[in-house]
Amino acid sequence: MAILVTGGLGYIGSHTVVELLNNGFEVVIIDDLSNTERFILKNIEEITGKKPVFYPFDLRRKELLTQVFDAHQIDGCINFAASKAVGESQIIPVDYYENNLFSLINILQEFKTRKISNFIFSSSCTVYGQADVMPIDENTPLKTPESVYGKTKQMGEQILIDFAKAYHSKISLLRYFNPIGAHPSGKLGELPIGIPNNLVPYVMQTASGIREKLNIWGDDYPTEDGTAVRDYIYVVDLAKAHVAALKKLIDDPSSDAVIDIYNLGTGKGSSVLEVVKAFEKTNNVEVPYQICARREGDITIAYANPDKAGKELHWKSETSLEEALRTVWEWQKYLKTRNS
Ligand code: UFG
Repeated sequence: MAILVTGGLGYIGSHTVVELLNNGFEVVIIDDLSNTERFILKNIEEITGKKPVFYPFDLRRKELLTQVFDAHQIDGCINFAASKAVGESQIIPVDYYENNLFSLINILQEFKTRKISNFIFSSSCTVYGQADVMPIDENTPLKTPESVYGKTKQMGEQILIDFAKAYHSKISLLRYFNPIGAHPSGKLGELPIGIPNNLVPYVMQTASGIREKLNIWGDDYPTEDGTAVRDYIYVVDLAKAHVAALKKLIDDPSSDAVIDIYNLGTGKGSSVLEVVKAFEKTNNVEVPYQICARREGDITIAYANPDKAGKELHWKSETSLEEALRTVWEWQKYLKTRNS
């Protein structure tokens, strides 16, 4: 079966492509290379010994997208392609709405015309905002996200739910908590483009001396050590959940709409300071830091109840925080040798 993976050379996309190829799927990647680099494709080929088809273009180019659907018998799509910088989305909101929603709609138009089902959407726990009760399960009420980025995820979900209902399609909305880590081969990971916004890439660059100090955004939260708590999920575990979600849709005999929603996390919250300490201990490096004021828009605490994914996808996070942080350091070493 050929699966279209948009954003397939990006961080979570590339790890998922590896898992799909290892599970015998044919993969067609579309990626505009706006937030990744071409060597990732070569590394996917080295890891898997297989060659996915690759098209470098922006999904808003509808005519090119149609050509891909003409050239391949596409059986499903995993849609990662999106702009994802929370801060930037507040500054250029129209570009975020255009990029994230037009590309989704263009793919759905092809799905509609060709009567294709099986669509997996890369969503985020940001759709829950600051939830009132922990852990967060799929019945937790949605709140309007703080950021435009988050709003594009919530709108994307809504578009897909309407699509599934109208065309009796099968969709899966995967709400990620905080993905971290790199491939055990050391050849795939999050590519740092500019100054990282997310915690773990920033920690990684501070440990290696690229950044002087990590700024910890706030130590006055009502948590055990005062720093904010998140659910850090290993990227390869997350990638495996995509394959499980896809197989479930493919195997579902129903001719009605299928709308699956899963929270993908470990079920355990870790504070910013716990992550920093775990990184230092696991990798035997120092991460200098200073405590700063809270970052605007940050929530206090978010961790998942992943039981539904456990029951229905037979999936659970298997990798410890320490092991995930070890792969991050290996990835940093790889990037260093690549750049030298
Ligand atoms: N943090 C720091 N210093 C940094 C970076 C982050 O202290 O340099 C803290 C943040 O304040 C937060 C925690 O580390 O408390 C995690 O921050 P991230 O930026 O890594 O992750 P977020 O939880 O803010 O964001 C993630 C995804 C978004 C998604 C959001 C939903 O990156 O795509 O979860 O809550 F929208």
